[in-house]
Amino acid sequence: MLDSMRKATILISILAFSAFGLFAQDELATFQTAMKAAAGANGATRQAADKAAFDAKAKEASENFDKISAFFKAKGKDDAVKFSMAASDAFKAGVAAGSLDDAKAAVSKVGANCQGCHAVYRDGNKFKGL
Ligand code: HEC
Repeated sequence: MLDSMRKATILISILAFSAFGLFAQDELATFQTAMKAAAGANGATRQAADKAAFDAKAKEASENFDKISAFFKAKGKDDAVKFSMAASDAFKAGVAAGSLDDAKAAVSKVGANCQGCHAVYRDGNKFKGL
């Protein structure tokens, strides 16, 4: 009796552990999709040859930083929320700017937010500190 209870406990622990593992993997994959899209769009704004091309990519970057912000808000990480909101706002300011030069200037300092968040929460292509 005791023995089978012990086995059941072990089984439940294993199930609970692997369910958590799957959840965490899924969460990471979803985050990575947004992060890769944001990073790719960020790079594309730098290469943009005209304002329309800049705007399309800046909107994509901004939308993905909004997703990243919502992710960290759900985790209660206010510092990361600030970094991702600041990045999103910089891309919105770029879209609002009147010329391509002004738009590029508006996003030129966004890298500080990338680095600020990465220093605390990024370990290669994984999370840390969560
Ligand atoms: C609020 C936090 C945060 C901000 C802001 C942020 N990142 Fe990230 N980034 C992460 C985390 C966490 C990871 C690790 C998980 C992952 O790979 O997606 C990461 C991973 C990455 C990766 C590797 C993606 C992969 O999985 O191959 C790149 C590239 C990247 N970031 C670029 C950027 C750039 C460029 C910016 C700014 C324009 C930026 N990041 C802003 C948190 C952030």
